[in-house]
Amino acid sequence: MWWLRLGDLLRFRLPRHDQMFVKSYLNEAGLFLFNQMSVADQAHSVRVARYIIEERAAGKDLNLDCLVQAALLHDVGKVKGEIGRINRIVVGIIRRFFPRKRDQWARRDKTSAFRYALYVDAIHPSRGGYMAESMGIDPQVVTLIKKHHDPDSAADDTLELSLLKLADAKS
Ligand SMILES: [Fe+2]
Ligand SMILES: [Fe+2]
Repeated sequence: MWWLRLGDLLRFRLPRHDQMFVKSYLNEAGLFLFNQMSVADQAHSVRVARYIIEERAAGKDLNLDCLVQAALLHDVGKVKGEIGRINRIVVGIIRRFFPRKRDQWARRDKTSAFRYALYVDAIHPSRGGYMAESMGIDPQVVTLIKKHHDPDSAADDTLELSLLKLADAKS
């Protein structure tokens, strides 16, 4: 929810119970990746993981461990310090309401912080997937990271991917 995401921008550290939760699911490599995200993205990722556990996963035949790891790591392609607080908000709005503009305005060079923020937003699934792959994260988790913003596809979407997308949108 957007108001929770706004609240995340004011955080300086993840609450202790959330840190313990994250440690119970991620190995050393996963923790390294998780910790290089901003606290705002960490808090969002914990909410996605908790949403999956508490609201949606009960009774379903799926790989919960893999899905929770993917929830915690889905946004690792957004590295801490790359997107300022104001740009985060603007980029979120553009991604949601004007996705074509995001791709049109995005620039890889850093002369405009805003355009670079759009670029990071556009590539974070593939970049995060690559980062996770190179750190030896479970290939199933890597696939979920890479596909978490792909358009819905009845043929390709596994139950895990559908749940991750839903939890991401709700969190
Ligand atoms: Fe994402
Ligand atoms: Fe996300």
